[in-house]
Amino acid sequence: MSELAAFIRGLPKAELHLHLEGSLEPHQMFELAQRNNVDIPFESVEEVRAAYQFNNLQDFLDIYYQGANVLLTEQDFYDMTDAYLMRVAEDGVRHVEVFFDPQTHTDRGVEFSTVVGGIATALKDGRQRYDISSGLIMCFLRHLSEEAAFETLKQAEPYLEKMIGVGLDSSELGHPPSKFARVFEKAKDMGLNLVAHAGEEGPPSYVYEALDVLKIDRVDHGNRAMEDEELVRRLVDQGMTLTVCPLSNLKLCVVDQLTDHPLKEMLRRGLRATVNSDDPAYFGGYVVDNYLAVAEALALDRDHLAQLARNSFTGSFLPTSDQEKHLREIEQYLSGL
Ligand code: ADE
Ligand code: ZN
Repeated sequence: MSELAAFIRGLPKAELHLHLEGSLEPHQMFELAQRNNVDIPFESVEEVRAAYQFNNLQDFLDIYYQGANVLLTEQDFYDMTDAYLMRVAEDGVRHVEVFFDPQTHTDRGVEFSTVVGGIATALKDGRQRYDISSGLIMCFLRHLSEEAAFETLKQAEPYLEKMIGVGLDSSELGHPPSKFARVFEKAKDMGLNLVAHAGEEGPPSYVYEALDVLKIDRVDHGNRAMEDEELVRRLVDQGMTLTVCPLSNLKLCVVDQLTDHPLKEMLRRGLRATVNSDDPAYFGGYVVDNYLAVAEALALDRDHLAQLARNSFTGSFLPTSDQEKHLREIEQYLSGL
């Protein structure tokens, strides 16, 4: 392992943008397909990996929703979540706030309770097993209707104590945040934190809508905010956290090459950017791989990397006292080098 990789790995950090369904590795997809007797259109793990070539977000989503078909039982959701936690425990990850897409499963006839039950139990066990604290964020699929999102929020009511927030994901273009204004207002009233994917493929106006109409607490991606000076200033002034996903941006052609990635400029402008993996099984890397790839492409130094790690805790929904504990651990790590 290079010195830089070892430094990043040892840095205490949080992951704030991770879709659990996107952590399902091809070998696990085969295992679950066999266990559940589900047909998948691939013969081998190599064939699956070869199919993971995307020109845009929609290309990816088409194959991603197909992959989720193997998830049927509470044990499947438990195993997927546990495998993710076990993997990132090696990477110096101390806290995670993870997404799941209930509609991807309930629309196939899987019960909401099965999905949340498996995930929430694995997260709870992971606190002891891996010493990783966690929060669960339920995302609405934005290509589906407002009515369907309301129905999902209703299904979540008995499980609210297992969740810290709601989010918005799936096909961005043509589905602006304002479509979900009333659902987000209701979720806020229910005491949930609010996040939304905005400015991944969508224009700066979608980021404005996420802020002004949805009143989000954190922006997922936010790359295209960089096209609008006034928006950047506003995000800086509000201390808004952006959950940036470099390898995802590369794989989904949001950037042509990592050397074009806006992360360094985001930090220079004072934006509270964080580094995350999004869908690591599909995009070729977990959180440390993302830090490392972008550090090499943009010549980030240790100060940049430490700032990204600090941002991951200050941008989390952890209580301030816990954030401060993690920030102290970062300073201890840096001073012990
Ligand atoms: N679902 C999973 N990954 C996503 C992404 N990067 N953008 C939108 N929806 C997603
Ligand atoms: Zn995402």
